[in-house]
Amino acid sequence: MSEVTESTAGTTADFVKVCTLDELPTVGAAAADIHGRIVAIVRTEDGDVHAVDDTCSHANVSLSEGELDGCTLECWLHGSRFDIRTGDPSGPPATAPIAVHTVKIEGDDVYVALNQEN
Ligand code: FES
Repeated sequence: MSEVTESTAGTTADFVKVCTLDELPTVGAAAADIHGRIVAIVRTEDGDVHAVDDTCSHANVSLSEGELDGCTLECWLHGSRFDIRTGDPSGPPATAPIAVHTVKIEGDDVYVALNQEN
């Protein structure tokens, strides 16, 4: 029996099925709408899947349309770089982080629990 609700750090995170692994690029990002929030689902070269807010913290640009370099997603407009594991900017001009969401893989299904704190 699969469980789509998981307790983390004392809070209950609600996981939403977003896509299957087959629907993601082998290496790269795809945008998904989760309860009206656009999230970039990113698969890295080592097969890990991460989820971060799709909107660049510098301006209203889709990060899933940018370039992935290891665990760094680069905005296509001005070149800000974000670590998709932490959301922290690792290259200017962005100075604010992007939200990181929790990913769970069950079989071929990709679930994401939104981080509601930011
Ligand atoms: S909009 Fe992303 S770096 Fe400027």
